[in-house]
Amino acid sequence: MEHRRDKARHPDAPRSGKGASYQHKRDRDAEGCASKRFRPGGQTFCSVPQSLSTRRQLYERDFPVYKQPVEVGCFSLDSERNFFSDSRQLRYYSDPGKSPKLNLRDGHHDRFIKRDESVKERLDHLLRWILENRVKLHSRNAATSPPCTLGVDFVTWRGHLTKLLTTPYETQEGWLLAVSRFGGTLYISEMETEAARVNRENRTERHEEMMYWGYKFEQYVCADDVHSVPDGCGVVNTNEAFCTVVQTRLADHKLLFSGEVDCRDKDPKSPPAPACYVELKTSAEICTPKQRSNFHRYKLLKWWAQSFLPGVPRIVAGFRDHDGVVVSVETFHISKISQLIKNEYNCWKPTVCMNFCSDFLSFVKSVVKEDDPRLVYLFAWEPHRDVTFSVHKDSEYTFLPDWYIKEMASQRNPETRQ
Ligand code: A3P
Ligand code: MG
Repeated sequence: MEHRRDKARHPDAPRSGKGASYQHKRDRDAEGCASKRFRPGGQTFCSVPQSLSTRRQLYERDFPVYKQPVEVGCFSLDSERNFFSDSRQLRYYSDPGKSPKLNLRDGHHDRFIKRDESVKERLDHLLRWILENRVKLHSRNAATSPPCTLGVDFVTWRGHLTKLLTTPYETQEGWLLAVSRFGGTLYISEMETEAARVNRENRTERHEEMMYWGYKFEQYVCADDVHSVPDGCGVVNTNEAFCTVVQTRLADHKLLFSGEVDCRDKDPKSPPAPACYVELKTSAEICTPKQRSNFHRYKLLKWWAQSFLPGVPRIVAGFRDHDGVVVSVETFHISKISQLIKNEYNCWKPTVCMNFCSDFLSFVKSVVKEDDPRLVYLFAWEPHRDVTFSVHKDSEYTFLPDWYIKEMASQRNPETRQ
């Protein structure tokens, strides 16, 4: 039994062999009921905890169980943001060579269609995927769930989980996560903070241009079909997306989440998804030891968290000069990133990220008890503070749409639906 569970662990998860002592520690920490702060690693409380600390030291335990993520489906969003429950937007990685001199500035003013970021889509695309794939989900989880539930504890976007993983190291930006319990499942949807909205509405021209560079790099190294080549002369349209939907488990939390995938390996012999997926990134070229250290300490943390979660094994990075020309291309294997950073003093640790995320999810489970899609528990965090929450009924924060609630609440067994 233990052997089977071990085999299904995330391939990049460190093996500590100390799962049992982790469990004992959790049991020990559950003693006493006086504190109203959620104790990291602890489980049971006499009263509902009011806050959760984000101090790194509290999360330096053994790496929690993180099962190898399994792709349960995918969907695509076209150039007008229309949803399709298929892989039509999946692109194929095409190696540009080690120093390709790609001009990322090209097309910014004449061949760029930018998604309207003021339109808040919340979990809608993922919810639509769930409705259209209930039968598949139900049969996967039938053993553990009644017919009308999903059989998972949490539904969310990968990006929201990435923010949770990096929280113990984040010093700049806070977050707001809205949570509702419905049909026994906890749905987590991010709300834009006031500070993030102000930043978004006041980006400099340089910042806007640099954001375009990331998408332009994708265009230079992605082909639409397995036998075609990239078209650097086409339009960059950020409405288009391919998203994977994965299921996994972090400690005792069953997760279903979706994340955008940039492209896949075109070799037909490559392993099945998500192991064939490739994440693309751009970054400023590294010229000094200080720049290398900053890259390891800050950028690799975000890159690692984003790809580790869905089990994407590698990142292809284009390093660009000040004028937006890619001067070198390097591959980073997610499983080797912890080795790369090990010489940095007081650096981030994968175990802290995963344990904080796991404890935050436990905190949410202990707080969000009432099953009501119109009730939102708003979890708020600012750097150097604890996570706190407030409760809102029928407010601007309600995010589960009526069409989803109605369809899910209909008592029809998904297996007998037409
Ligand atoms: P880089 O990855 O080269 O930075 P992703 O890498 O997640 O696939 O995102 C693709 C591009 O979208 C990024 O390219 C960046 O240009 C832009 N982008 C992603 N997240 C962003 C954010 N939070 N703010 C601004 N731009 C972002
Ligand atoms: Mg990318």
